[in-house]
Amino acid sequence: MRQSAALRRMVAETTLSANHLVLPLFVRGGKKQRRAIGSMPGVFQLSIDELLKEATAAVAAGVPAVLLFGIPDDKDTKASGAYAKNGIVQQAVRALKKELPDLLVITDVCLCEYMSHGHCGLVHEHPHGWEIENDPSLKLLARTALSHAEAGADMVAPSDMMDGRVRAIRQALDQQGLSRIPIIAYAAKFASAFYGPFREAAESAPKFGDRRSYQMSPANAEEALREVALDIAEGADVVMVKPALAYLDILQRVKATFGYPTAAYAVSGEYSMIKAAAANGWIDERAVTLESLLAMRRAGADILITYSAVDVARWLKDGGIPA
Ligand code: PBG
Repeated sequence: MRQSAALRRMVAETTLSANHLVLPLFVRGGKKQRRAIGSMPGVFQLSIDELLKEATAAVAAGVPAVLLFGIPDDKDTKASGAYAKNGIVQQAVRALKKELPDLLVITDVCLCEYMSHGHCGLVHEHPHGWEIENDPSLKLLARTALSHAEAGADMVAPSDMMDGRVRAIRQALDQQGLSRIPIIAYAAKFASAFYGPFREAAESAPKFGDRRSYQMSPANAEEALREVALDIAEGADVVMVKPALAYLDILQRVKATFGYPTAAYAVSGEYSMIKAAAANGWIDERAVTLESLLAMRRAGADILITYSAVDVARWLKDGGIPA
């Protein structure tokens, strides 16, 4: 079709705007800490004072939401830091909500960053190996989510993939009068090599084994739909597909099947690939990032979780994708 730029914009089937963006942030203890993550240029582990600066800049750029990950000072086999009243995420949430009350603060609910072994649930070690203890882990996850909500989090995001965790978290929140707090469930989370750089960022690589007993096989799409159906039945308000770019088919089917608010997580490896290629001058970072996010929107994502959120918001103000 021969079209002018104005007409192309007018008939665009999909749009990209800053309203959809969520910026993940990593928070750690201390003061004036801004530790670079080697595999994710432009991403840092931040102490709370620096986190406030970063979040203020994000808000100024037009990013409406952040997703918090905590790096505790100490780890143990019960993930005590995850649900401590004065845990790093709990402190960060209080500081953010005080300073930036209109910023939507989402917290990642998982145990891996707080576990000395780096797994997302309690681990039972026995002579023949190890196992994740699914049901006992649910209590800890619910405690974690509750303590985030009590600190002022606007929404909780369980990412552990234990069976039954959405129901356990929903019940815990409702019992404490926090039924207004929505759950964004990492519903279809694949056991993906694209999480590699994140594990450096969050210091959460498993010390033994891998996450394939609780995360999904990249071979399976029907299973992803079943996982999403379960999370919705348990009370998820938003469902997430993760990673994003290599799983656009899943995103499209999840949106088409359930019609639920749907989030796509453009994970660390997706970010690092674009950064590395752009640093070599091989691709245009801005164009490739915007095109990727537009593809996620086209596939059905309402919410885009991306480490590039601040740049994206600025690029969109500056004209976005040429029509
Ligand atoms: C914690 C968690 C992970 C990510 C988000 N939450 C890592 C994992 O499951 O190993 C990955 C995010 C990213 O790669 O950007 N369970």
